[in-house]
Amino acid sequence: MCCCPRSRIRHGLITGATGTGKTITLQTLAENFSARGVPVFMADVKGDLTGITQTGKIGDKLAAVLKERGLDAPAPTSCPATLWDVFGKSGHRSARR
Ligand SMILES: Nc1ncnc2c1ncn2[C@@H]1O[C@H](COP(=O)(O)OP(=O)(O)OP(=O)(O)O)[C@@H](O)[C@H]1O
Ligand SMILES: [Mg+2]
Repeated sequence: MCCCPRSRIRHGLITGATGTGKTITLQTLAENFSARGVPVFMADVKGDLTGITQTGKIGDKLAAVLKERGLDAPAPTSCPATLWDVFGKSGHRSARR
């Protein structure tokens, strides 16, 4: 799948065995849409995507790999996100009370 405006699609399905990168793929899609100003709604029952609100860090291991391969380190960013909490305790409240 690609996030460039010309080729973005309206429907998609990400499948795979545990640990094969489904969540990371979804997060990457969302980050790219967000960077282009496209609002994204994600139902995240497991809470795996909440880190999208935080600016990441380049760890020592990744920094070493990038250096070894002569690659520039990417600039970590965060996405503007509102967490929705149906109970209204840790996020945006539901419209229905
Ligand atoms: N594109 C990628 N490049 C390098 N590593 C990756 C990539 N995608 C995922 N990983 C690695 O694989 C791990 C598992 O990925 P992820 O959590 O997205 O899997 P998942 O399919 O959502 O798993 P689960 O079924 O348990 O929810 C990540 O923590 C990361 O270390
Ligand atoms: Mg997952």
